[in-house]
Amino acid sequence: MSAPTSSTVAGSSGPTGPGRRDLPGSAYLAAARGERPGHLPVWFMRQAGRSLPEYRRVRQGTGMLESCLTPDLACEITLQPVRRYGVDAAVLFSDIVVPLKVAGVGVEIVAGTGPVIESPVRSAADVAALPRLDPEAVAPVADAVRLLVGELGDTPLIGFAGAPFTLASYLVEGGPSRNHERTKALMHAEPDTWHALLDRLADLALTFLRAQIDAGVDAVQLFDSWAGALSERDYRALVMPHSAKVLAGLADAGVPRTHFGVGTGELLTAMGEAGADVVGVDWRVPLDEATRRVGPDRALQGNLDPAVLFAGPDVVEREVRRIVDEGRAAPGHVVNLGHGVLPETDPDALARVVDLVHALPVG
Ligand code: CP3
Repeated sequence: MSAPTSSTVAGSSGPTGPGRRDLPGSAYLAAARGERPGHLPVWFMRQAGRSLPEYRRVRQGTGMLESCLTPDLACEITLQPVRRYGVDAAVLFSDIVVPLKVAGVGVEIVAGTGPVIESPVRSAADVAALPRLDPEAVAPVADAVRLLVGELGDTPLIGFAGAPFTLASYLVEGGPSRNHERTKALMHAEPDTWHALLDRLADLALTFLRAQIDAGVDAVQLFDSWAGALSERDYRALVMPHSAKVLAGLADAGVPRTHFGVGTGELLTAMGEAGADVVGVDWRVPLDEATRRVGPDRALQGNLDPAVLFAGPDVVEREVRRIVDEGRAAPGHVVNLGHGVLPETDPDALARVVDLVHALPVG
C-alpha cells in the first residue's frame, strides 16, 4: 500500500475546495445526482466485512472498534470488496457507534450481539452528561479516509453516520432492541428530554460526517436503520427535524447525501423531504412505487433482498433484472441490497450481481 502524500486531500469541504476529487467518470456519483450514466452503478451495504474470507483473516485478534480506529486496517478492509467485486463505490469500514466511542461514551461491540452501552441514557441529566464530539477525536477515521483517497483511483468513497433516532435507540435501550420500548417511552413521555438527546446526536453525526468530508469522502449515507419502527406521524414530529438538521448541515459540501432505513415504506416521502439526494429503499417496496412516494427530484438506491442471494443464480438474476426494470422509473438508480450483506452470503453470488448489473442496459 503506497503512502498518500498530505497534498492528496486538503482540509476544505466546500464544493470547490482544493481537496475535493473530481470524478467525472463515476457512474455512482452520476446516478446519485439523478442522471443515467453509461452503466448502472452497484455497491452493497456491508460489502466490507463479515462475508469475506480475506476480511476474517485480517481481523483475527483485533476487536471491531479497534479495527475501525486503526487507519491502515480500516483502509485495507474498505478496499477488499472493491478489489474482489469491482463495485462502483467503496464504503468506509466503520460503525455507527464509532463517533460515540471516540467522544468518550462507554460502548463496546459484543460479538453476536452488537453495540452495548455501559450506562444507558434515560434522563435529562444523562443527556446533559453526554460528551460532545471534538473533531480532533475523529482523526483515526479521517486518516483512514485520506489513505483510501490515495488508493482508490477513480472509485468514489462513501462515508456514513448513524441518524439521530437509530443512535438514540442504542443509547436509550443500552443495546440492540426488537421493540424500542424504552426509546418510544422516552420520546412520548419526555419530549423535551427526547429532543435534547436527538439534537445532541444530530450534532455528533454532523461533526462525524464533516470530518469525513474534510478528509475527502465523495458521498455520504445517513443510516436510520431502525426508523421503520415508527409511524409516519411520530417520525415527522419527533425524528425528522433532527435528521433534516444533519442533512441540511452538509448541503454546501457538494457531496450526494443518501438517507436509508429498513421497513421505511411508509416513511419514504418524509425521508426524502428530510433533505436526501438519494433515498435508500429496502426490498418491501418496489422501486417504481418508491419513486412515486419519493418524487421525481431524488434518486433511489436498492433494493435486492439480501436473503435472495441464498436462492441460487437463476433466482438472483431474475430478481436483479426486475429491480433494474422497476428502477428505470426513478431519475437515477444506484443498485444495492435492501439491507446489509448477511454474514453467510457466498461472495460469488455478489460477484455475479455486479457482473450482471454492469451488463444490463441503463434504459
Ligand atoms: O458485520 C460485519 O461486517 C463485521 C463488522 C461489524 C460492523 N458493525 C461493521 C459495520 C460489526 C461486528 C458491527 C457491529 C454492529 N453494529 C452490529 C451487529 C452486526 C452483526 O450482525 O454482528 C450492529 C447492528 C451495529 C449497529 C450498526 N452499524 C447499524 C445499525 C449500522 C447501519 C447499517 C445497518 O446495517 O443497518 C451500522 C453500520 C455498519 N457497521 C457498517 C459496517 C461496515 C456500515 C457501512 C456499510 O453499510 O458497509
